[in-house]
Amino acid sequence: MHDSSGFTDELLSRVSLAAIIGRRLTWDASKTRTAKGDYWACCPFHSEKTPSFHVDDHKGVYHCFGCQESGNAITFVRKIDNLDYRDALAYLADIVGMRLPTQSKADIAAADDRKKLYEICEQAARFFSIALSSHSGTGARRYLESREVSETTRNAFEIGFAPDSWSDLTDQFLNRGVSLELLVEAGLTAKSDSGRAPYDRFRNRIIFPIRDLRGRMVGFGGRALSSTDRAKYLNSPETPIFSKGAILYNHLPARNALKNSGPLVVAEGYMDVIRLSQAGMETSVAPLGTAVTESQLRHLWRLDQEPVLALDGDNAGRMAADRAMRKAFPLLEPGNSLRFCFLPEDTDPDDFVRRFGIDALREQLGKATPLAEFLWGTTQSQFQRNTPESRAAFQTELRRIVSTIENREVQFQYQQYFRELQRDTQRSPGRARRRLGTPLPETMASPIAAARKNDTVGEKIRESVILGVCVTVPEAARDVIDRLELLEFSDSRHRRMLDLVVTALSVAELDRDAFRARIRREIGDDTLDKLLSSHHLKRLHGGSPLQSDENTVEKAKFMLLEEISKIESTAAARREHGETVCDAKEGSGGQLIGKNSLLARYGEVVRGKRRAQRGIEVEKAQDSVTAANGVVLDRSELDEFNRLTEFP
Ligand code: UTP
Ligand code: MN
Repeated sequence: MHDSSGFTDELLSRVSLAAIIGRRLTWDASKTRTAKGDYWACCPFHSEKTPSFHVDDHKGVYHCFGCQESGNAITFVRKIDNLDYRDALAYLADIVGMRLPTQSKADIAAADDRKKLYEICEQAARFFSIALSSHSGTGARRYLESREVSETTRNAFEIGFAPDSWSDLTDQFLNRGVSLELLVEAGLTAKSDSGRAPYDRFRNRIIFPIRDLRGRMVGFGGRALSSTDRAKYLNSPETPIFSKGAILYNHLPARNALKNSGPLVVAEGYMDVIRLSQAGMETSVAPLGTAVTESQLRHLWRLDQEPVLALDGDNAGRMAADRAMRKAFPLLEPGNSLRFCFLPEDTDPDDFVRRFGIDALREQLGKATPLAEFLWGTTQSQFQRNTPESRAAFQTELRRIVSTIENREVQFQYQQYFRELQRDTQRSPGRARRRLGTPLPETMASPIAAARKNDTVGEKIRESVILGVCVTVPEAARDVIDRLELLEFSDSRHRRMLDLVVTALSVAELDRDAFRARIRREIGDDTLDKLLSSHHLKRLHGGSPLQSDENTVEKAKFMLLEEISKIESTAAARREHGETVCDAKEGSGGQLIGKNSLLARYGEVVRGKRRAQRGIEVEKAQDSVTAANGVVLDRSELDEFNRLTEFP
């Protein structure tokens, strides 16, 4: 197929060759360096035992050092599946969600047209470059000097100058026989609305020529030299060869430089890219005056799995990061992410390097904030108040944003990451103390606290039963997910597993096997097998193979609810007890809480505690006594209460 539309380019830039090949081959774990886009496997085209088949995912090419086979995604699927060219395109297009174009006479004409446009842009770049060196370019050259752009850099970036004239360029090209139509189509000449002659689009501006990934001249950015000019920057309009949202400034040179070092830095403007390059960091690109687009993000990830966005530290920079983040989420794939480097306020990379040097910038880039952390921080700052409502809103918002991640695996890991972070913050000693008050020595010495030590073994068993049932019959677990989500496990490993279970349940509609496979992958074979072999689980199916019938699900659900209730009331009792004794202390003097109501509350705590320890139904305590107000307590508990609340 004769490709006229740039379709193949776009297709190849969208597919990840490693992902395509990864569907067929198993990567060699010891040689493969995913972060570098370096993948190794045993060659599918000849027989071998040690991997000599190499994939460069950034470039989208493979090569076998054994049999010398090489090519790109298209040649790979053609060979491996024996497809013809068009079918190979169709196969790949389907994977990345593109539609195969039909080839018509008009398409072929358009292709010829585009060839002419590239050529005309190339000539225009030459025109601007000559103008910069000419007499009329004196002021422009001085301006570049004042911004510390060296002559070498000027040449490397092919910087030019558009003379302060309405028609120099248009006249010269018309004289050479270029049609006005083509000049307008290339975006170099603009037609007047008021019936006057067509005029040069770029006037009295420094010109930054823009090449595409294949090195073809496609458009221009122009910076005003006069501060009274309406627009500081002016770009080529959208043309058949120039699409602002799909092109990155300095794309090709950055790609070449990334072979030697990283990371890929995404700056905001032309001058930033130029400054970094002049300072020795050639691995930066910039979008063309717009926010980063989806297409650009895909291009970025083909070069570097975690590009760093270098942003102004002010509010505009944070908003830009926020926009990029939201755009990136739906597109995230395993391994792909973004990082954000916030520079001091009112400082772009150009300013920063001029002021502090490139090494200082490298240091800043090294400390860039990962995407997940940025999301957490920026969302949290919107819900600052430490009220239950505000915290719930924070969680809901986080979850909403994470749910926009289309890749299941990545979405799962994000949910899990935030769940763990959330637990950590809740468990931070500072916050816990604020909620409960500092435990008094009396609290620690009380019989209830002492009983805790013996409890923990029982609690751990209870926790593992819950986990076991969840993994065995996820259908039942899903029904009680709200309760599971709030459950507090005493064992930290159990806590993590519970998080995993809840995350896996809420992220995807998985069948039982897929769900278990998912958990197995996360917690490992040994741990899972141990969980599943617990003899408590046998209650569920009497040791015989598990049925997936309604009956089993109901039974499992009942077991879950039973165990969950016990843990909940243990936790509640523990909280209550702590608070009660605190209250008791504060209430000494009898002013805050009367002794009788305190005792009544204490009785509730104790009964809750017993309920938790022994099952749902309350059993009669041995050696019970009835206090003056009718509350039934263990004798030792009543003694303890009296001791704690002894009023002077
Ligand atoms: P800035 O205004 O931050 O400019 O715009 P800058 O890159 O720091 O430029 P200098 O240092 O003053 O020369 C950042 C980018 O936004 C686009 C351009 O691509 C610019 O590089 N832009 C800005 C426009 O497209 N139009 C404008 O009017 C301004
Ligand atoms: Mn600047």
